[in-house]
Amino acid sequence: MFTRTLLGLITVVVALSAPGGSSDVDWWENAALYQIYPRSFQDSDGDGVGDLQGIASRLAYLKEIGITATWLSPVFASPMSDFGYDISDFKAIDPVFGTLDDFDEMIAKAKALGIKIILDFVPNHSSDECEWFEKSVNRQDGYDDFYVWHDGKLNEQTGAREPPSNWVSVFGGPQWTWNEVRQQYFLHQFQVKQPDMNFSSPMVREHLLEVLRFWLDRGVDGFRIDAVPHIFEYRNEDGSYPDEPLSGWSDNPDSYDYHDHVYTKDQPETVQLLYEWREFLEKYQEEHGGDSRVLLAEAYSPVETLSLYFGNGEQRGAQLPMNFQLMYLNGYSTAYDVKNSIDYWMQTMWAQHQTANWVVGNHDTNREADRMGAHKVDLLNVIVNALPGASVTYYGEEIGMANVATECTEISCDGRDGERTPMQWSPTKNAGFSTGSGTWLPVSEDYERYNVQTERGVARSTLQIFKGLQELKKSSAFQAFKTAGGFSYEAVSTHVFQIIRSNQLNEEYRIYVNLGNGIEVLNGLSDKVYEFVLLTSYSPRRLGELIDLRDRLVLMPYEAIVLRWSA
Ligand code: NOJ
Ligand code: MG
Repeated sequence: MFTRTLLGLITVVVALSAPGGSSDVDWWENAALYQIYPRSFQDSDGDGVGDLQGIASRLAYLKEIGITATWLSPVFASPMSDFGYDISDFKAIDPVFGTLDDFDEMIAKAKALGIKIILDFVPNHSSDECEWFEKSVNRQDGYDDFYVWHDGKLNEQTGAREPPSNWVSVFGGPQWTWNEVRQQYFLHQFQVKQPDMNFSSPMVREHLLEVLRFWLDRGVDGFRIDAVPHIFEYRNEDGSYPDEPLSGWSDNPDSYDYHDHVYTKDQPETVQLLYEWREFLEKYQEEHGGDSRVLLAEAYSPVETLSLYFGNGEQRGAQLPMNFQLMYLNGYSTAYDVKNSIDYWMQTMWAQHQTANWVVGNHDTNREADRMGAHKVDLLNVIVNALPGASVTYYGEEIGMANVATECTEISCDGRDGERTPMQWSPTKNAGFSTGSGTWLPVSEDYERYNVQTERGVARSTLQIFKGLQELKKSSAFQAFKTAGGFSYEAVSTHVFQIIRSNQLNEEYRIYVNLGNGIEVLNGLSDKVYEFVLLTSYSPRRLGELIDLRDRLVLMPYEAIVLRWSA
């Protein structure tokens, strides 16, 4: 009793005095973030497509598994050519997802539960069915240069008209498409149905700030900004556009990899724009109170560039430039690969800004089970949640969902369908996702085994492990991640990765992950005695068992464990 009180006192003193200690930590810095793909999370009206009422009805689940904030892929009015990443009205909810009233109710429910809602903000382009584009095509109401227009070039030999530059779109094929009405080319870094807006136009910037304000006024906590690197394009002073150089990575002239994107990615103006948006959010917070509003930046860019997007000193940009490095690991990755991947981020972002975030999946990438192998999902989940900083989980990864081999249908024929299938809630019809006769993408055949309801009842299921990790995040050792010496990570053998979290006082966690398919024996890892506090399904141990790390530690193939020492 006495020691407890004494330790309690010491902890309080440390927390108050530690520079960079937990009192300085803003909510997003070590948040558990969760991405919802709204079409696939929960259907409330039986049409086989997920919706806002469905999401609202599942917010309690997010609370249960320890989520701080959830970001929703786009729910705005859209012809759905890119499933919502082609917006036709930035201030309207698409009827397939519900109404603005449904949205407000969802926000109210999230607030009551203490879960933050982050929306997808897609500034680079709109749908070609957006009123703004229609006005621009017809040169109406000052919308002339709202998009990126150009006459193209005349080929002197053939006399034919050609696109302004050789730029190839992210999805392949030319970035320029001829518009018959306006008799000019327009730019689209993505699909033809996603024309790029012209950010040199003050009117574009104003319109998009209005969009941000509209959703902030409805109570959202921040935005995930889509396609950040693509926002600005370089233009010569005479108004022409320079060709991009060959990259040497591809032989296919129609492929995005054919060129090195020096003129269409990560332009300096984009960095400035992020600072402007952050300033806007900070001003909004000053005026309206509440917690920090956040910006997540989607940028497949070098970490050095992400550091610019984050900002420095007075120039603050996106708090969470998303770190995709761990998504590049695969089933053959060793503990050294994991370390290198983490180092790449930490040596720049942590060293300069003491910030980290770890994304392990999204709607554009194969699921963990497919990238790593089903038996390694828990290992990856342990690593990302044991590292300091924020974790970003794609819906379903917490239960070990796998990609589904899908076929083209009338609704969708997208190479990314496989990772977008319905959330698996229960071992019942349509996995509990929908009461309808069908679902927009097929439910995975493995849903009777991998689903929330079943996994709740199975010790050491992927779901239980995920929940256990979120509990650990609340411990004082995990909270002290900005204190000097608060964490370390290391490859202790080719296959075993170690993470240490400590409050530098009376609590230390050691996490060991064996990525290999062999038994690992490690000697003299520490001079203390630890307790097993979290075990994965390959562990022969029991919770509460003690281990003296002066002796040897034996790890089974694919085993991950969490050990705790306390004084
Ligand atoms: C990135 C999004 O994540 C992806 O799904 C979309 O197709 C492109 N941006 C274009 O908006
Ligand atoms: Mg652009």
